[in-house]
Amino acid sequence: MIKVGTLISFLIISTISSLNAATYKGQKVYVESCKGCHGGGQELAASKNIRTWEKIMDRKGEKLVDIHFTSKKAEASWNYFNDRKFVKDSKHLEDFLVEYAKDSGNVPACN
Ligand code: HEC
Repeated sequence: MIKVGTLISFLIISTISSLNAATYKGQKVYVESCKGCHGGGQELAASKNIRTWEKIMDRKGEKLVDIHFTSKKAEASWNYFNDRKFVKDSKHLEDFLVEYAKDSGNVPACN
């Protein structure tokens, strides 16, 4: 027998404890648009402080866009950062990054 009960309770616990609605949207954006190049989102988020993320994501992620436009290695992301979709996504993304920032106290339990 597979431990279905264990799996279900794990899913419920992790859903309730780590993701509120706003950060969930941001996480989704991250997985769709950033994960391919940067890997785990919570690790990236935990690499900077809340204030740093707020600065990077200020004015619809202006700085984040700059970082990628000035790196040839990030060329594959230029279309996305040019797109109006990113302007919409940037707020959710900020919520997610700030939620898991280094000094947020929300370090994921199992990693
Ligand atoms: C095509 C690949 C690619 C995609 C997609 C991409 N990035 Fe990047 N990102 C890079 C590269 C290359 C750099 C340049 C710095 C480096 O070499 O690590 C970078 C730099 C960064 C930095 C600065 C790193 C630092 O330590 O200061 C942040 C923050 C970042 N990306 C976040 C994101 C987020 C958030 C997304 C999704 C919206 C994203 N990236 C999408 C490739 C990518």
